[in-house]
Amino acid sequence: MSTVYLNGELLPKERALISVDDRGFLFGDGVYEVTPAYGGSLFRKDRHLDRIRRGLAALRIDFDPEPLDQVHCNLLAANGLEEAEVAIVYTQVTRGVAPRAHAFPTTPVQPTVYAFAKEFQRPTREQWKLGYMATLVPDRRWARVDIKTIGLLPNCLAMQAAVEAGAADALLVRDGIALEGAHNNFFAVLNGMVVTHPATNHILNGITREYVLELCRDLALAVEERPIQVEELWQAEEAFFTGTTTEVQPTVQIDGRPIGDGRVGPVAKRLMDAFLEGVERATAAAAGRA
Ligand code: PDD
Repeated sequence: MSTVYLNGELLPKERALISVDDRGFLFGDGVYEVTPAYGGSLFRKDRHLDRIRRGLAALRIDFDPEPLDQVHCNLLAANGLEEAEVAIVYTQVTRGVAPRAHAFPTTPVQPTVYAFAKEFQRPTREQWKLGYMATLVPDRRWARVDIKTIGLLPNCLAMQAAVEAGAADALLVRDGIALEGAHNNFFAVLNGMVVTHPATNHILNGITREYVLELCRDLALAVEERPIQVEELWQAEEAFFTGTTTEVQPTVQIDGRPIGDGRVGPVAKRLMDAFLEGVERATAAAAGRA
């Protein structure tokens, strides 16, 4: 049985109960974060903490996320994940508990803070080498998806459409532009350039996306942050998704049409290798081995 965190306490999951009046439950009024831990060490944790801090400010939820850093370490320890190759820590903060009314509670309430940690199973190397399929899905989300809110219904519906199409990822399309995945960011290699949508209000600016952009610069790969037209995909040399639970995942087919030569390309390979090396370096440094 896993140990979770709820409102200041570590406790067995079955004893973690929240009110039916929680605004997260009633309205999806809250934010969340997913932080990876490699060998028990949280990767790029300050960026994840900064993103939830920005989300809380945007929703005007009065909560300082700084102490979550310690909560995350405690959760990894309490669940025996200190040595896990890859684990994730999920954190959610909602506006709190109040009788149902759309506007904010007039008397301030305590935010509800929930977190759990669990092992993450990477896809096998064999599967990665074969690549993955994606399907195009219209983007039905609101115009502030740069905030990582818990209201993920359009993302869930998009992912379900992908599953039903036998695809690993849903590529969200708005006005003819391939924006990002249902739970990850999207990149294409076009005329030798690594291209991804700019960090506007129409995508969630992934911490992995930013890391992969840094890796591109380290590897002297030309990068362009600009919208990608769906029509361009059919001439792309490569495509891949990035994210905390995606890392770098190559797409070899979209809606049944091959991307490039229909095989995993060299850019995705180099970026995944560089990603794993970077994670290894950071983990070794955190363990005092570097
Ligand atoms: N999803 N875009 C969307 C819509 C996302 O939900 C996510 C993350 C990303 C990638 O962000 P990052 O690289 O910081 O993980 C992009 C998380 C993992 C989830 O919902 O489970």
